[in-house]
Amino acid sequence: MKFTRFALSILLTASPLAAQSTTPAKPTAPKITVVKAARLVDPKTGTVVTNAMIIVQDDKVTQVGSGLTVPAGAEVIDLKGATILPGLIDCHTHITSQPSDYYEDIFRKSPIDYAVTAHVYARRTIEAGFTTVRDVGSAEYIDVALKRAIDKGDVVGPRIVPVGLAISSTGGHGDLTGFSPYVKIEGLSGVADGVAEIRKLVRNNVKYGADVIKVLAGGGVLSEEENVGGPQFTQEELNALVDEAGMWGRKVAAHAHGAEPIKRAIRAGVASVEHASLIDDEGIRLAKEHGTYLVMDVYNDDYILAEYGRMGYPEKILAKERQVGRTQRENFKKAFEAGVKMAFGTDAGVYPHGWNAKQFAHMVRWGMTPMQAIQAATVNAADLLGRSGKVGELSAGSYADLIAVAGDPLKDVTELERVTFVMKGGAVIKGGKSDK
Ligand code: ARG
Repeated sequence: MKFTRFALSILLTASPLAAQSTTPAKPTAPKITVVKAARLVDPKTGTVVTNAMIIVQDDKVTQVGSGLTVPAGAEVIDLKGATILPGLIDCHTHITSQPSDYYEDIFRKSPIDYAVTAHVYARRTIEAGFTTVRDVGSAEYIDVALKRAIDKGDVVGPRIVPVGLAISSTGGHGDLTGFSPYVKIEGLSGVADGVAEIRKLVRNNVKYGADVIKVLAGGGVLSEEENVGGPQFTQEELNALVDEAGMWGRKVAAHAHGAEPIKRAIRAGVASVEHASLIDDEGIRLAKEHGTYLVMDVYNDDYILAEYGRMGYPEKILAKERQVGRTQRENFKKAFEAGVKMAFGTDAGVYPHGWNAKQFAHMVRWGMTPMQAIQAATVNAADLLGRSGKVGELSAGSYADLIAVAGDPLKDVTELERVTFVMKGGAVIKGGKSDK
């Protein structure tokens, strides 16, 4: 769509006029809800509150504790013996897509197919207890469109922090590689080479709604380029990308499996390294020094090796997965024990949406306590997203985003795979009958 100068001037003047003619809405009484349950896991302090009550006014929490007085006229949701937690956060999803067949995914589906089904995955994600996700790459800004529809209340789903187009080099993880030079797929391109193109693509992403910038700093598994561990941008390019993103107030998430691209990304100043499978000792040291988060998708390997052959993915892709899978888990343990900051991210969309919580058991198996795994998916994730105090915790002023599970997730972390209640911004999405 192109605006004429005239149309633009109408647009610019219309809104103040419209605002003047609207009669001010009558203030409605705030809606007070009280949610109570046997236990509340508080990841911020790493403690458990028994006989917990959370007082919610409209979309925010006003009070959290035990033995609070129920305000007059409040609706009470009694979750009885359940355990409440803040809504979970997944820092690495591709919420607009899910693979089914290699050939179909590349050649039959268009961005319209993805746009049509994205809302289904959004609902599955929030019903699984994930009330906030960072979407780290979708075609054609579908993630931004989905976020807007959710924020408006037209679609049910988590709060989305979108990246828009993930930025790839030519022949890199985000480029269609491995086919004839005559095979071209049309659409908005996330490919940029050299400082000038990269800066321009960052600007376009910001212009079209990206809250975070995602760069594909090195090779990938599920793409046909040969080297999963290799770098795909120079240090100079990454430095410029992080600098440009920072100018617009955006953090950067860098996809990197290999030791070298991981280190380049950290040196450039990214906020998080995604996957980080082959990180070496120097990378671990640098991540600690720079306070860089690692977002390691340590469940993924199981699903890819079990299902992707059947879905027609070529052997060279499966071979790359075998190269990183086990080592990634060992390095998760090593980096965590060395004191590197970890935020929860699954790559859901590579496997079915709604299965996000399956990763908790792997994080516990590879060195975390259940509380630490929960902290990765709440307070740490909120910190990485720059949203501490709003999400990932339940405290006065935070969004009333909360979930419940029947048992005790600190004893059995797989309880998080069976979320029975979800509230987002004070609205019940799943479960929980109120007492009146
Ligand atoms: N999206 C990632 C890629 O293609 C998936 C990597 C999955 N493997 C893993 N072990 N985490 O590179």
